[in-house]
Amino acid sequence: MGILKAVVVLTLIPTVLLSVLWRATLDSDSNNPFIRCILDHSLPYHPISSAIYTPQSSAYSSVLESYIRNLRFNESWTPKPFLILTALHESHIQAAVTCGKSHGFRMKIRSGGHDYEGFSYVSNARFFLLDMFNLRSIDVDIESETAWVQTGATLGEVFYRIAEKSKTHGFPAGICPTVGVGGHVSGAGYGNMMRKYGVSADNILDAVIVDSRGRLLDRQSMGEDLFWAIRGGGGASFAVIVAYKIKLVRVPERVTVFQVEKTLVEDATDIVDQWQHVSYNLPEELFIRLMLDVVKSRQSGEKTVRASFISLFLGDSDSLLSVMNERFPKLGLSKSDCIEMSWVKSVLFWYNIPLDTDNKVLLDRTPPTLNYLKRKSDYVREPIPKAGLESIWKKMIELETPRMYFNPYGGKMAEIAAEEIPFPHRAGNLWKIQYIANWKEAGVETANHYIDLTRKLHEFMTPFVSKNPRQAFLNYRDADLGSNYHAKGLYEEARVQGMKWFMGNFYRLVKIKTEVDPIRGTRKECCSTVSLSFIFQGYWKDLLTILRLII
Ligand SMILES: Cc1cc2nc3c(=O)[nH]c(=O)nc-3n(C[C@H](O)[C@H](O)[C@H](O)COP(=O)(O)OP(=O)(O)OC[C@H]3O[C@@H](n4cnc5c(N)ncnc54)[C@H](O)[C@@H]3O)c2cc1C
Ligand SMILES: *[C@@H]1O[C@H](CO)[C@@H](O)[C@H](O)[C@H]1NC(C)=O
Repeated sequence: MGILKAVVVLTLIPTVLLSVLWRATLDSDSNNPFIRCILDHSLPYHPISSAIYTPQSSAYSSVLESYIRNLRFNESWTPKPFLILTALHESHIQAAVTCGKSHGFRMKIRSGGHDYEGFSYVSNARFFLLDMFNLRSIDVDIESETAWVQTGATLGEVFYRIAEKSKTHGFPAGICPTVGVGGHVSGAGYGNMMRKYGVSADNILDAVIVDSRGRLLDRQSMGEDLFWAIRGGGGASFAVIVAYKIKLVRVPERVTVFQVEKTLVEDATDIVDQWQHVSYNLPEELFIRLMLDVVKSRQSGEKTVRASFISLFLGDSDSLLSVMNERFPKLGLSKSDCIEMSWVKSVLFWYNIPLDTDNKVLLDRTPPTLNYLKRKSDYVREPIPKAGLESIWKKMIELETPRMYFNPYGGKMAEIAAEEIPFPHRAGNLWKIQYIANWKEAGVETANHYIDLTRKLHEFMTPFVSKNPRQAFLNYRDADLGSNYHAKGLYEEARVQGMKWFMGNFYRLVKIKTEVDPIRGTRKECCSTVSLSFIFQGYWKDLLTILRLII
């Protein structure tokens, strides 16, 4: 046998083998009753087969990984979905809901994948992933000052599409442009215009959803209760949100930003103290976030606390300077600190992107860097005494990680009633704390180290933050909140967590949940079911799932 022949045979064998294997997986996939069910729901003009990825598909891993935003959940031991359905049409979502329910799969819904605890793509129940990234159309109508936005869109895309049509409109939403609309808006969503316009969910006029029975509904057909729940109550507990109709807000053609940093030797303590008394009382056009971290002092080389003040002012620099001189003189803001720019440019400034970058950078769907991370949140209801600040600095220097961001409320945030939408943190809350730990090294031990540091600072802050309940922000997902694992019953555990996120609104959410996604019909059983046919994941139930993974 000639050498050529041998080569041909040798290359043929794997090819033949591969194609046999490939046929076998296709056959076994479509023999699977769940996949069969999905394929059977395909509509002639919207074939579903190209939206299905099973672990046998070569693109499965890259599809799964492309929206993992916390590397803690990009590990070999992270539970993986039975399949991924990258919906291309509403009918695909309906098929997912109907078949997931009839075949006993938990469904995870992912839009931008920024969930801090990976709840949009991790579960220890038998689950599949409904991925929304293909459904991301944005339809801006300046005349009516509204836009229809599909939930797979990112915030950056929303900002860019608005700015493309108008220099004087914007939308109040988060700082990070790669965050998805689906998780962000359904969990309230705040950004640097919240003191003027409230949270994102305060600016929603209508929505299109697929409910737990697979029906495509809008605001009128879903009714006001469900429409209320999906504006801050967490989307996945109630429905798949396909699109939101958002209300655009007015912004001036020029806004002003600044970022000023002070360390302890530069009187940071006094300046922070003044910030504590004015930040939530300032004109609502002015938002000044305070960022606290530990750095090496330029003067002594020793560790010190740095307070950075980053701001958005919906107005010009002269008006900003006069407000600052009158209300917050200790910061010593000068004209040269202030930069005037369009509102959409200010998004780049806040995201720390060089200002000469084209605004098209907002269309990038992948963040420049990915980290391992842990977040926690708190609410502050009274300024912290100076001695308290000093003790916090000492603790921060001891731990080094995490950083803290203080985001002031007041203004419109304090005017909206706590029951208006499920997000309850309104009047009385002066600012929200975010605890931030990012790290670069893989491994459970490293993760535990940083998570532990974050818990330590959170614990240390107890005397200075809200009590009974200790409030928390749903969108800063934190699996620690479920730590009363051995409480009396699951409903009771759910209540303890739910009160932190929703306060009194928790009870209305449970009632709505029981109506729209009934398990055995009673209120008590709403959140305590272990039935796998439970299609939507209540957060409280998911928390328990994640905890079991960790324990
Ligand atoms: C880098 C970074 C910056 C952030 N900055 C801010 C900020 O400035 N302001 C702020 O408020 N938050 C911020 N967050 C938090 C962010 O708002 C939440 O993590 C939000 O839930 C992310 O939405 P997503 O669609 O990207 O996430 P996903 O992980 O896709 O989803 C989050 C949750 O919502 C559910 N969900 C997603 N899509 C749908 C849908 N279509 N229908 C029903 N349920 C759905 C998921 O199942 C999951 O439970 C930030 C997060 C990160 C990682
Ligand atoms: C996620 O994990 C996969 C598989 O180990 C790896 O190839 C990929 O680089 C990881 N992603 C990131 C951003 O580290």
